[in-house]
Amino acid sequence: MIKWTPALSTGVASLDEQHQQIFQWLTELENAALEERTLFGVYAITRLNRYMREHFSEEEAMMKSVGYPDLARHILEHAEFRAKLGELQIKSISEDISMDTVKFLQVWLTKHITKTDMAYVPYLNLEKAPEIS
Ligand SMILES: [Fe+2]
Ligand SMILES: [Fe+2]
Repeated sequence: MIKWTPALSTGVASLDEQHQQIFQWLTELENAALEERTLFGVYAITRLNRYMREHFSEEEAMMKSVGYPDLARHILEHAEFRAKLGELQIKSISEDISMDTVKFLQVWLTKHITKTDMAYVPYLNLEKAPEIS
């Protein structure tokens, strides 16, 4: 069963909560694929898509607010994924969610969180660090 693990922790509670919620929808999507539940698959991928859009917007706003230097590349990664997830969502209406799709999403999310997201976390901590007077 797919689930969030502490190896995916960024050390930022609010971010981890959002990533955990994303993984919960991914687990639901995995269930839909394994049990060949077409309608539930459409529902789960729709919720996953909506939740990820909200999460991406929040992350992008947070990175902007601290002046993260690699913001453009991060936004591009989000945009490419949003387009792909949109395609998969449309496909789910005519075809059951496949395990290949679930695996693709799991691999992308794991890589994105552990590499791309974790790269901006030190910038958030810097901003929160007490000022030296
Ligand atoms: Fe993220
Ligand atoms: Fe991200």
